[in-house]
Amino acid sequence: FFSRLMADSGQPAPPPGPVSLDRDLFRQTKTYLGVRVPTKECGSVVKVLGRNKLQGKGKLRPVLEDPEDSARRIVLLDVAVQENLPETVAQLIKERGLEVVEHKVELGYEQMTADEVLRQVIPAGIPVPSSFEQVGHIAHLNLKAAHEPYKFVIGQVLLDKIPSLRTVVNKLGTIETEFREFNMELLAGVDDFVTEVRQHGCIFRFDYSKVYWNSRLQTEHIRLASLFNPQDAVYDVMAGIGPFVIPAAQRGVRVVKGNDLNPNAYKAMQENVVLNKVHLDTFNMDGREFITHVIQTYMNPQSEAFVGASGPGKDGEDSPTTHHFTMNLPALAITFLDAFAQLDELPHIQKPVIHVYCFSKSADPAKESVQQVEAVIGRPLPADCLIGSHDVRNVAPGKEMMCVSFRYPPPAPSAAAAPDEQLSKRQKLSE
Ligand SMILES: C[S@@+](CC[C@H](N)C(=O)[O-])C[C@H]1O[C@@H](n2cnc3c(N)ncnc32)[C@H](O)[C@@H]1O
Repeated sequence: FFSRLMADSGQPAPPPGPVSLDRDLFRQTKTYLGVRVPTKECGSVVKVLGRNKLQGKGKLRPVLEDPEDSARRIVLLDVAVQENLPETVAQLIKERGLEVVEHKVELGYEQMTADEVLRQVIPAGIPVPSSFEQVGHIAHLNLKAAHEPYKFVIGQVLLDKIPSLRTVVNKLGTIETEFREFNMELLAGVDDFVTEVRQHGCIFRFDYSKVYWNSRLQTEHIRLASLFNPQDAVYDVMAGIGPFVIPAAQRGVRVVKGNDLNPNAYKAMQENVVLNKVHLDTFNMDGREFITHVIQTYMNPQSEAFVGASGPGKDGEDSPTTHHFTMNLPALAITFLDAFAQLDELPHIQKPVIHVYCFSKSADPAKESVQQVEAVIGRPLPADCLIGSHDVRNVAPGKEMMCVSFRYPPPAPSAAAAPDEQLSKRQKLSE
């Protein structure tokens, strides 16, 4: 099925060259065992046999026209059934007086599934890629080094067999980019990376080659968005194209602000705000600057833009506002927690709730992720501040993506002491 560079005798074999797809080479004639059934009885015979006793997995249909008799059909039997005819099938054949026949079927590339084709192209010993991420019309593969000679064939076969695909790409390298977009190579189809996905009633349009997107986070996006109350304020420090902030705004959270340092993500977030007809403010700042801006502007009661308690609710009482920060940049987000240290100097500002993502390779990721937070904020998280440590997903063997939710704790008593008090303590020590 493929052409390769041949090794000179005595020389170490060079790596295999690229493999090309010749669809004609898949043509073959196969002989199946079937039963000849009068057309009128076909439905009932198929029902009695049941799907698992019929041939016709993949794209081959189990009931075919009989070339010798237009009033009959050939019902193909599964290969396993052919080899060991079960009692029920033998009885059915006898009771109905059905004729058992050998039937030749012309098969080709069109009748085969992607898996069947790839099993023939890729040599035994190299696993056939079994999964990929589909983002709109784009299939995103993460192929292994052994797949290198077969990668364009893999791309083409997926494109041929999955009608919703127009583009197939492969992730390149493991180097993390600053904005977490993928380095990718085109394997098959058109080099159009602008795509659209739907998630929980929201539409997201973006250029997959320029921004971060991971469809596997959809459960997490909605889990977090559903924690927010309408009277709350939500600030996403690393918002990407908006999968937390847009659902939050759509669910009626009254103050929502999304920030991302990647200018392409920022632009896409703005477009998605319009596309989803929601109201939220977008920012294109470094995460630390954004945290300071939010604290000084929206959380400070002395600021004109202060977001205080919302107006009286049903019971006439003001609804208290919780200020939430979300920080999904798991490799680094925890290091940004130092930007909240300024809250220690601002006791009149209500402490926010922070949802920060990280990775943990510990046997107890829930505990260890909290320890990571404590190490950066420089104090233990008291039980009344820790809301939870949630296991988002397993990203690699022994590596979990975690989300720690906590209310920023007040300073430890010694650090919280008023400057005068601290001075008098120092004086006493020097006395
Ligand atoms: C893992 S993505 C998450 C995006 C989005 N929250 C989501 O769940 O899909 C992390 C985002 O952080 C952004 N980012 C990286 N460094 C940043 C920084 N210093 N300040 C703000 N955003 C940053 C990246 O551009 C990227 O969009």
